[in-house]
Amino acid sequence: MSDTSILTAAKRSPLLARAAAFAAVGGFLFGYDTGVISGALLFIQDDLHAGDFAQQAVVGSLLLGAIVGAAISGYTADRLSRRWTKFGSGCIYVVASIGSALSTSVGELIGFRFVLGVAVGTASFVGPLYISEMSPPKARGGLVSFNQLAVTSGILAAYLVDYGFSGVSGNWRWMLALGAVPGLVLAIGMLTVPHTPRWLASAGREDQARDVLRSIRTDDDDVDAEMDGILEETHDESSTSWRDLMAPKVRPMLVVGLGLAIFQQIVGINTVIYYAPTILKATGLGNGGAIAQTVAIGVTNVVFTIVAVSLLDKVGRRALLLTGTSGLVVSLAVLAAYFTFPTLQHDLPILALLALILYIASFAIGLGPVFWLMISEIYPQGVRGKAMSLSSMTNWGFNFLVSFTFLTLTGAIGRGGTFLLYALIGVGAVVFFAAKVPETKGKTLEEITGQVEGDYAADEAGSRSARERSRT
Ligand code: BGC
Repeated sequence: MSDTSILTAAKRSPLLARAAAFAAVGGFLFGYDTGVISGALLFIQDDLHAGDFAQQAVVGSLLLGAIVGAAISGYTADRLSRRWTKFGSGCIYVVASIGSALSTSVGELIGFRFVLGVAVGTASFVGPLYISEMSPPKARGGLVSFNQLAVTSGILAAYLVDYGFSGVSGNWRWMLALGAVPGLVLAIGMLTVPHTPRWLASAGREDQARDVLRSIRTDDDDVDAEMDGILEETHDESSTSWRDLMAPKVRPMLVVGLGLAIFQQIVGINTVIYYAPTILKATGLGNGGAIAQTVAIGVTNVVFTIVAVSLLDKVGRRALLLTGTSGLVVSLAVLAAYFTFPTLQHDLPILALLALILYIASFAIGLGPVFWLMISEIYPQGVRGKAMSLSSMTNWGFNFLVSFTFLTLTGAIGRGGTFLLYALIGVGAVVFFAAKVPETKGKTLEEITGQVEGDYAADEAGSRSARERSRT
């Protein structure tokens, strides 16, 4: 397949397109369920008499559930398959969405949001994992990031649903219940698509793996060569214990994956996603204006994710990651200045919105899609499920940490100080990415593993000969 466009890939293999689309419905729910609660809380607090602590618990229980979901599904994705794990998450979405909508007490709601979180944590990485293992190398960046496009669309849908239902009685129940519909689509959809060829090969089902690969490739693709690569790696990487993540040749990529996971959250993305109206209200806007501008932020997130999806296989992951993260630093510095100097707030009130738009656009072309994409590419087959699970747990853990320190942090060092801190962290991220993140564009997953292991062997040989030289 010489054309890198995902549309071409999808047109040539409708089955591949269907598989990627259904898998990405899990991403849509990840976005919807994390985004919907900010608007719903305004009504839950009255209906269920939820105080500050209870409200934070309603928000936080989903994030804690996501950590648990990411942990469990590392095991089930290897054992039961990527496909059945996704099917399971669809079923949990349906039950937990309806359960949360029918909750009669804060305790029940917290419980159901936790269960919902298990599905969110699962879908967050098994979606990219499933799509990555199905995709042809030249279109993998766009196809996997289709999942991130679904996440951002889910967030936007949640903002719009919150807005649309805000005048309807019993509204928060509808806001939460609606998540059951895509959950059902996900579960039924996963019944109609195949297992990934790489999972089938690792389960010893080689003939089926070859059949699936043939059905999702075109006549121009060398299916036999790709299959040989998969089998070779499956034989090399047969053991899959958690301890294998610490193997010296896996460790460098684990550092990259965990670094991306942590930086994606500690540049403060979810303070903007969850608290945008609060930040905007601090610029002097009323409720209505703040919500309308929040929708503008949601639209920007979707539009720039589309830009990323179309560019990732052309300009590569590194270029987008470095450009996007540099943009984050600039916008955070502007926000820090805005909240530090009252004259700016007075003379140039629009600056906060412009900086937030630049911030979200920069995240959407870089760290947003690239983190989930890279963790689906850089780990060897034998540890891919577990290494992705650990990276996702770390990401959700830091999401929880940042979301719950934001209001305390702004209380302690002010909004200006908080955004300055995020900007400095962003500078650290640019340096780390420039030094450590490899380019994976256009390579098969097996070639990426070969390249990483080759680099590791070369480094080892280099330091061994340096040690020998220093001894003589
Ligand atoms: C992140 C989420 C974030 C979303 C925003 C995802 O890649 O993992 O934490 O809310 O992007 O678009």
